[in-house]
Amino acid sequence: MQRVRIAKVLEASKPGEVITVCGWVRSKREGKAFAFLVLGDGSTQETLQVIIDAGTQPAELLSQCSTGAALTVTGTVSSSPGKGQSVELQAKSMKLFGGADAETYPLQKKGHTLEFLREIAHLRPRSNTFGAVFRIRNALAAAVHEFFQGKGFIWAHTPIITANDCEGAGELFTVTTLDLKHPPLNEHGQIDFKQDFFGKQTHLAVSGQLEGEFMAMALGDIYTFGPTFRAENSNTTRHLAEFWMIEPEMAFADLADDADLAEEFLRAMCAAVLKHCVKDLEFLEKQYKTISIAEIGVLAEAKFARLTYTEAVKELERAKQSFEFPVAWGKDLQSEHERYLTDTVFKKPVIVTDYPEQIKAFYMRLNDDGRTVAAMDVLAPRIGEIIGGSQREERLDLLQQRMAKMDVPAADLQWYLDLRRYGSAPHAGFGLGFERLVQYLTGMGNIRDVIACPRAPQLVAF
Ligand code: 4AD
Ligand code: MG
Repeated sequence: MQRVRIAKVLEASKPGEVITVCGWVRSKREGKAFAFLVLGDGSTQETLQVIIDAGTQPAELLSQCSTGAALTVTGTVSSSPGKGQSVELQAKSMKLFGGADAETYPLQKKGHTLEFLREIAHLRPRSNTFGAVFRIRNALAAAVHEFFQGKGFIWAHTPIITANDCEGAGELFTVTTLDLKHPPLNEHGQIDFKQDFFGKQTHLAVSGQLEGEFMAMALGDIYTFGPTFRAENSNTTRHLAEFWMIEPEMAFADLADDADLAEEFLRAMCAAVLKHCVKDLEFLEKQYKTISIAEIGVLAEAKFARLTYTEAVKELERAKQSFEFPVAWGKDLQSEHERYLTDTVFKKPVIVTDYPEQIKAFYMRLNDDGRTVAAMDVLAPRIGEIIGGSQREERLDLLQQRMAKMDVPAADLQWYLDLRRYGSAPHAGFGLGFERLVQYLTGMGNIRDVIACPRAPQLVAF
């Protein structure tokens, strides 16, 4: 079928051209002599009006072309007198693929709440909002590769099934083929994973960082981009149990290089949506008023604020407002603290560095003060933490000490320690939660609305 996408029709088709389009009916209006169908095909926020001379098509066919129906139309492009559209299509012939019962089709023309749309995850991509979100998500995914490939980074594919717990937070989904009703037990009465598929206990990866490190220690600069899984019982608008993460890792780099990369990367993502997604951004801005194209433009050029954790704590202690969670040196920052820094103090993204060692992961490099590590979190307005990263501990003895202190089993990580035994070098990287980025640039309030099939506690629709 020689089909032309509606995005292309609106961009390039000239009056008089004969073309074939395919799509789903958004709405139908029937007059005595003519029927008007509004057709969308997912390629753009915009729709194409199709005008059908009622005398040329069977009445039954026209009656079946109700909202939701899938069809193809061949016709002549003509310039449109209607406002808001440049061209329309005068139908010559049409074919219905699949009708949609107008009575039961859940997506009616009237606006639906996001909560309602969440219940019909399989149909919501057909709505204006989710069409926009998923096109922006796609543009961002392409821009991620373009950014890193353009800088000479190599895309490393790290495993989904792994035997390590990178973040040490124990938020793991176990992968097993053992009989869950009668699992084999060892002499201590615990499940004997030696008899499991891999001969040891395995999980879904919470991060690809540790494997990314050994790739960077050979290839120089790498990035990962893949799904990660956390069995975190967080029922929030910012947490998913399955999310996509982008993790660059650079050999011969320190924390300042890492922060510079994070900043340049986020600016490039802003520039990418402005370049590729203006129509969708305009729709979301008008519909929800949670993003502003002008602000994304400012962000694409902005210098982020940078301060240390210790300075951030001082800033929070000076705050005129009170917080639900207490602020004290040594305690992790809560999202209310992060938002105070981004939304109230700096009004732009903020990079907080050098956190207390006891609240950060084992692999982070100990600073000379002996009590902080070379960590950084990039905090974004509305979202809070969007990136977490660090310079890695490249000194074997210090890494071993930190692992012992944090009860990280060294026996399982000899390969990781080898990287410090053979040709160790300073290196640094970060992880960006892809859905948080999409949330940030679409303005969607709930992270469940920026991924096709959200997974969260008690939530897996299909
Ligand atoms: O800060 P995190 O836990 O860092 C790491 O995983 C490091 N291994 C990254 C690295 O240095 N290579 O996670 C990184 C980012 C967070 O800043 C956040 O954006 C996102 O991943 N994230 C989540 N996004 C959605 N749902 C969740 N449950 C998330 N947990 C983390
Ligand atoms: Mg983090």
